[in-house]
Amino acid sequence: MKNYKRLLAYIKPYLGRFGLAIICIICASGANLYLPWIIKDMIDKVLAERDMAMLNFISVSIVIVFAIRGIFYYGQSYLVSYIGQRVVVDVREVMFRKFQRMPMAYFDKHQTGETMSYLTNDVGAIQSALVDNLIEMFTEGAILFGSIAMMFYLDWKLTLLTLITVPLVGTAMRIFGKKIKSTGKVIQEKLADITSLLQESISSIRVVKSFVREGYEIDRFKVENELNFRATMKNVQLTSLLTPTVEFLAAVAVTLIVWFGGYEVVNGIISAGSLVAFLTYAVNLANPVKRLSRIYGRIQKAMAAIDRIFGVLDLPETVNDKPNAKELPQVKGNVSVENVTFSYDGVHNALENVNFEVKAGQMIAFVGPSGAGKSTIANLIPRFYDVTAGAIKIDGYDLRDVKLNSLREQIGIVPQETLLFSTTVMENIRYGRLDATDEEVIAAARAANADKFICDLPEGYQTQIGERGLNLSGGQRQRMAIARAMLKNPQILILDEATSALDTESEKIVQAALDDLMVGRTSFVIAHRLSTIFAADKIFVIDKGKICEQGTHKELLKLGGVYSNLYNIQFSNI
Ligand SMILES: Nc1ncnc2c1ncn2[C@@H]1O[C@H](COP(=O)(O)OP(=O)(O)OP(=O)(O)O)[C@@H](O)[C@H]1O
Ligand SMILES: [Mg+2]
Repeated sequence: MKNYKRLLAYIKPYLGRFGLAIICIICASGANLYLPWIIKDMIDKVLAERDMAMLNFISVSIVIVFAIRGIFYYGQSYLVSYIGQRVVVDVREVMFRKFQRMPMAYFDKHQTGETMSYLTNDVGAIQSALVDNLIEMFTEGAILFGSIAMMFYLDWKLTLLTLITVPLVGTAMRIFGKKIKSTGKVIQEKLADITSLLQESISSIRVVKSFVREGYEIDRFKVENELNFRATMKNVQLTSLLTPTVEFLAAVAVTLIVWFGGYEVVNGIISAGSLVAFLTYAVNLANPVKRLSRIYGRIQKAMAAIDRIFGVLDLPETVNDKPNAKELPQVKGNVSVENVTFSYDGVHNALENVNFEVKAGQMIAFVGPSGAGKSTIANLIPRFYDVTAGAIKIDGYDLRDVKLNSLREQIGIVPQETLLFSTTVMENIRYGRLDATDEEVIAAARAANADKFICDLPEGYQTQIGERGLNLSGGQRQRMAIARAMLKNPQILILDEATSALDTESEKIVQAALDDLMVGRTSFVIAHRLSTIFAADKIFVIDKGKICEQGTHKELLKLGGVYSNLYNIQFSNI
């Protein structure tokens, strides 16, 4: 219930409209209470006393009451939907912000599909919880309490009798509600599983097809699909059981009332019109009770979604600005890595006791076998993760003491896989610095050796790039990434195997662009091909998370260790 209250806090900005909506709801449903009263007057006055004036009054009032009801009905549904949709939009934005701020470690552990399902399914569940349920809750609540008040007014003994069954109905509701909530949670989870399986399988369709694993994927999907079916059916079973149970209890109540009411009329305690009106109210009572019990089930189900949403919103943002974080001033580019130990999972160390120092403007290279920890070092410099022990300092500032934005603004990364957004080439490069002019973008593209191929595209810089930039080659995308970095103009540069996916010809072009990019910047280069790092001021050979050799190309060759071995392997047949 705590989280439902937190959700209601999102209504606060719309409290004025909310109050108005409630008034509309109450007035609209109040009209329903008028009908039984008319029946009473019809029987006791018009039929029994043949009162023509009363008949005219009743007829006119019906028309007026229903006209007014229509107006309030319009107000109610417009206002409640407005509030509900506003809250959905607000929650969606809050969640999106949250995901933008979440540390990398979160995205390592969670699949894209799962994250997407929070924003689509769960936020959708909030909407139905707020819009549909709130309207019904207040409408039915108003009818319920109004009917009970009328009933007390007509005959209190009969009313008390009616209310005996209410606790029974309430108990049944609570028992089922708990079960429905837990099955609702399972459904959402299974749905998220399906979504992420689908997402994963479709986005990796090339791998699936190349390994002829369609059958395998279908089997996997079938299992998840079936699990979702079972979870849904369990939920359906419970919800279907709840409705008839509550209805039956209501029927028992009505029978009791009919008997006792008939007894009172026979003995002249109340009028026939009063009894009919009373019975109409009592029958009307069954509807709100039934609907409220259904709403209760729905709210329980929505609660599961709400719990998940607030669960996500409450996740710790482990890599975040300290309260007193300073702005990192324009850096020179001196980087020192002091006794750094780092573990992704808290069990295995990906880096152990790594120490080195880089002077501004130097080019540093990391080589070593796959899984050695090269990319991990590259991940720590922009503070995608916090070091487990030790410290990384830029110009003497510990990374954890400065504002994340001011740090990352000054670091450029050219990754192995360049991700492009589905917009124009121009906008994709401008992603490096949003306020860059078109001329600056083009200058950066020129410096990255990209201008030529871009101009050859059908619409030049205005060419739309498909999802994930499918219509550009690896080398072209790489040069777009370099152009982005050029535009950003960072003092510190990280190239993580920026050329490893390229053939020799495009590697040469990209390498030339990279060489230009690195001038005057502190650069960290991770490379498998040693030819790209001969010129490095210092080369670190990393193995199993430790630096095992360091020096210039010449020094390392002389050393005759791991590096010179690597060199011999790569250049033996030249
Ligand atoms: N996001 C992650 N979560 C958990 N463990 C990780 C993560 N990324 C890397 N690792 C682990 O950390 C170790 C170092 O990985 P890293 O990516 O730094 O290697 P690398 O030297 O860059 O290798 P490669 O040359 O193949 O890119 C490996 O054992 C790897 O399994
Ligand atoms: Mg790597």
